[in-house]
Amino acid sequence: MRIKYKKYAENVHLKDHQAEDYIGNKKCKNMDKVRKTFDKWAQNGRAELMEIEHRKNVLKFLQKIPFDKPFTFLDVGCGNGWVVRKIANEEKCKKVIGIDKSKKMIIQARKKSENKKEEFIHTDIESMNYKGKFNFVFSMESLYYADSIEVALKKIYKMLKPGGQFFCGTDFYTDNKATAKWSNIMKVQMHLHSKKEWRLFFQNAGFMVNTKNIKDLKSRKKWKREFGTLFIIGTKPVK
Ligand SMILES: C[S@@+](CC[C@H](N)C(=O)[O-])C[C@H]1O[C@@H](n2cnc3c(N)ncnc32)[C@H](O)[C@@H]1O
Repeated sequence: MRIKYKKYAENVHLKDHQAEDYIGNKKCKNMDKVRKTFDKWAQNGRAELMEIEHRKNVLKFLQKIPFDKPFTFLDVGCGNGWVVRKIANEEKCKKVIGIDKSKKMIIQARKKSENKKEEFIHTDIESMNYKGKFNFVFSMESLYYADSIEVALKKIYKMLKPGGQFFCGTDFYTDNKATAKWSNIMKVQMHLHSKKEWRLFFQNAGFMVNTKNIKDLKSRKKWKREFGTLFIIGTKPVK
């Protein structure tokens, strides 16, 4: 993304500091649009619709994680906080944090909070300022909105303990052709990538990578039956 703007700046003969400014402005506009869109969704019931829409496959995936040792968990782009509330009920959960760049999502999530182990922070992953390290980081349908997936992944890698895992769920990926048109409907920045490209992003950030497609064979939606949710599972090596 940065290279694209830099190229544009070069083409229109902007000086370096002007190019930086251009990059900055464009970046701000995109980030603002994402935030504003989800601020609206937090208020018009679409946060709960997302919960319904994502719940089945996410729970199917999370069921396979043993959670048998004490752990800490971060949900990036937590929306109304439904995954945070679910994880807080795990016996071995010590602390679970949900972050979202939409302030209104965080307000909704805090209202629904029911367990002292839960904490919600209004921030984007790129600028999150948190000193602790997590055993698990999770993200559902959020990472492709980040201004730069590479930057977000680097940050997540840093925030994991050695041996820690990042579970990244996405319904929006090139191989799943039915969902590729979502970006026209949303009219915000959404980075569309294939399973292969996602794997590379993770590898480049230092992760060991695995993927899983979780399908819903009973769904009315063909793409949910045939492709389903792609989970990219990144494990931070123990050095
Ligand atoms: C499609 S919603 C998914 C919400 C939730 N994960 C779910 O499954 O219901 C995406 C969420 O990610 C948040 N988001 C997008 N980019 C983000 C970023 N860079 N950092 C933190 N949150 C982000 C949005 O504000 C939005 O609430």
